[in-house]
Amino acid sequence: MKKTLAIIGLGQMGSRHLEAAKSLKKFKIIICDLNKKTTNQHNLKTYNNWKTLIKNEQIDILVIATNANSHFNIASFAIKNKIKRILCEKPLTTSILQGEKLKKLIIKNNTLFAVNHIRRWSDSYKKLKQLINENRFGKIVQIYFDMGGGQLTSNGGHLFDLARYLTSSEPKKIFAKIDDKKTPHPRGKKFIDHGGYGILLMKNNSRVLFDMSEDYGTPTIIKILCKYGYILIDEKNKYWRCFARSKKDKKLPLTKRPNLIQIPFKGHGMINMIKSSKSSIKNLIAAKNNFMIKCGIDDGIKSIEIPIGANISSKKNSYVNFPIKNLKIKKKIYKFT
Ligand SMILES: NC(=O)c1ccc[n+]([C@@H]2O[C@H](COP(=O)([O-])OP(=O)(O)OC[C@H]3O[C@@H](n4cnc5c(N)ncnc54)[C@H](O)[C@@H]3O)[C@@H](O)[C@H]2O)c1
Repeated sequence: MKKTLAIIGLGQMGSRHLEAAKSLKKFKIIICDLNKKTTNQHNLKTYNNWKTLIKNEQIDILVIATNANSHFNIASFAIKNKIKRILCEKPLTTSILQGEKLKKLIIKNNTLFAVNHIRRWSDSYKKLKQLINENRFGKIVQIYFDMGGGQLTSNGGHLFDLARYLTSSEPKKIFAKIDDKKTPHPRGKKFIDHGGYGILLMKNNSRVLFDMSEDYGTPTIIKILCKYGYILIDEKNKYWRCFARSKKDKKLPLTKRPNLIQIPFKGHGMINMIKSSKSSIKNLIAAKNNFMIKCGIDDGIKSIEIPIGANISSKKNSYVNFPIKNLKIKKKIYKFT
């Protein structure tokens, strides 16, 4: 018998998940969106209220693709109603405390839970991480990324997640300046997610420098600087370049700067979100426990905790340490997309 996969929220992202689920050809698909005009466009079983959907149906896999302000309520209700496999869009929640409460529920109910930070399902980054772990470039000393147009949580969350993934380390502290020009959010006044720039220090002493200010509009550039080499990535132009010292030159002191050799590497262009949704759904189905989920609840929590830390740092004009322990900060609800 086919498993039932339900999608809540059928906007830009939900439609991609729908395409992905259809192309896997093994699900009975049910959709839910507040907006009847949206659900009426599909010839599928439909709901317009997510509580009714969850109460009425036996759902094997639930995809939550509404905006961030409803992720916590939907996910908590789904977990309490015994849905066992959930893929939730990022940002996971709109406060750190909500994320932590979800984690407790997930553990208590043995739920398999994935968060859609798309680069976690990318074969190119997986291959790159392998090369890094094999010590081809030496330890990562710095990751630099920039991406125009702001949105330090919605867009930056993906890149902070990538930094944790590639360095295999956790955030230690952050110092940041948030853009205070109050540029309206492109999706309307009900969302606030400003840009900013700063430095994130990781526990293994790698430095993450980021500039996602709102005064420029160029696509993402990533530079990964390692002890013996560097990697430059411009995904949009499918430009991945890797350079490292030869084996013999690695023995030279760091004060010497020998010519680096280019390491052939083929990476992807812009991430195909339908393909990555397919991978995330497959990962969720195959997983027997949460350790097998490539991007799980802790990754979701960290990806909001880091930009929230950036916001607090900017206000206080000082470093903010991780994990954030102050309950007032953890409770604060943000207006992320
Ligand atoms: N993983 C990624 O790379 C990626 C990319 C884009 C967006 N996103 C995230 O996906 C989520 C959705 O973004 P989007 O671009 O699809 O937004 P969108 O505005 O295009 O779509 C949201 C949809 O959810 C519906 N909706 C909202 N509240 C609902 C509710 N309570 N019950 C049922 N339906 C509801 C809306 O009617 C709309 O159709 C956001 O959290 C966003 O940050 C993730």
